[in-house]
Amino acid sequence: MIEKVRGFRDSFPEDMVPRQRMFDIMRQTANKFCFSPIDIPSLEYLELYKIKSGDELLTQTFSFKDKGGRELTLIPEATPSVVRMLTARKDIRKPVRWFCLPKLWRYEEPQSGRSREHTQFNADIFGDESLYADAEIISLACATLDKLGLCGTYKVRVNNRFLMEKILERAGIKQISKGYSLIDHFKKISKEEFEKELMDLSDDKEMLLALTELLGTEIKLSELDKKFPETFKSGNEEIIFRLMNTAKLVSKQTDAELVYDASVVRGLGYYTGIVFEGFDIKGEFRSIFGGGRYDNLCQLLSGTSMEAVGFGMGDAVLELLLRRNNNWDAEVKNNSVVFCALSKEAIDMCFSLVKTVREYGYSTTVDTSMASISNQLKKAGANGMGFAAILGPKELEDKKITIRNMKTGKQAVGSFQDLIQMMLELSEN
Ligand code: HAM
Repeated sequence: MIEKVRGFRDSFPEDMVPRQRMFDIMRQTANKFCFSPIDIPSLEYLELYKIKSGDELLTQTFSFKDKGGRELTLIPEATPSVVRMLTARKDIRKPVRWFCLPKLWRYEEPQSGRSREHTQFNADIFGDESLYADAEIISLACATLDKLGLCGTYKVRVNNRFLMEKILERAGIKQISKGYSLIDHFKKISKEEFEKELMDLSDDKEMLLALTELLGTEIKLSELDKKFPETFKSGNEEIIFRLMNTAKLVSKQTDAELVYDASVVRGLGYYTGIVFEGFDIKGEFRSIFGGGRYDNLCQLLSGTSMEAVGFGMGDAVLELLLRRNNNWDAEVKNNSVVFCALSKEAIDMCFSLVKTVREYGYSTTVDTSMASISNQLKKAGANGMGFAAILGPKELEDKKITIRNMKTGKQAVGSFQDLIQMMLELSEN
């Protein structure tokens, strides 16, 4: 037998039922925030990611040459495609709020919460440089997690790339992007290893020590003006004020905790202002979502300057979190009904009834196996059906049908016309 490719997953109905429910909540929440749906291609020119996505992402692409010798790649992230689409259309009025749910591919080492193929809920606001847009984007990410029942189980770590640039300069670090990529690994490598590499970036040991201390501290965003270290504060008051005001706006939409964390700089190369990542409070998993402001990418990709802020939220860590919270329910909701027919004539009659049942909003199918009733009911239970509608020779003769609530075991008998009413009554008690 040929096995599946490493790092890829097969999704059976018991995986897809709760996953689709999760995607539905993402779509509904995006809708409530007035984000419009878009879709992006699965293949792009590799060139698109060479511009600003960063070296790390480029080493993770599933790229190849097509028959015409063009360098293509399965998309490793959505942002460059979304920017390409928007900047190609001059007629669209700004600001724009878009979301999509593409599959993405990254050649990463498969581990808990990270696979080589995942689906990402991606949302962005274009053409709005204000802190209101920053707040709306973070609020959408949080409102989605809250709606998924995760309120209180996650927090958002926030930083600002401008602020970090100034902090790194004050610490005497001239190679800013090297500084970022080291800081991005602050929580992933040992303290000794980190300090050794940091000392190579500047001679100002005292400031480097202050920087290391800041990197290891979390500050509630509501207290940032009071608790931000004086060493790095002066000249940065405006950014600190904006971060605090953004958090204040977000707190109107969610109870999620927002903290300042200098170690959040984000691996991707294009961020310019606020950057943020969502994590589970217990610290068991990798990031739930990540994003930030990237005001230069549109200019770099297309020559059209446009402010942008957005996030990506993968389905893999979310699934782990929802499972931990016993919120990964594979059971089909009980508006499903299977017709259990016990004769050929009964099968025919059932097929005459399913259209009306579907029109009433139920999912339904006919069991045509003509197996024994106990066998058909066992199957219905295993498939998570809400109801069984039983039609045997006796029922057919009497023009009656038996409805069984599969969860409670309660049954009712009535005419074909009463079928929907019987299911409604059996749902209530
Ligand atoms: P990112 O931090 O690379 O950002 O990914 C965002 C989220 O996607 C992560 O927090 C995680 O939930 C999920 N994710 C990333 N890689 C994997 C993987 N290998 N397996 C499973 N899940 C994964 C971006 O992609 C940016 N383009 C987000 C963005 C949109 N920024 C602005 N707009």
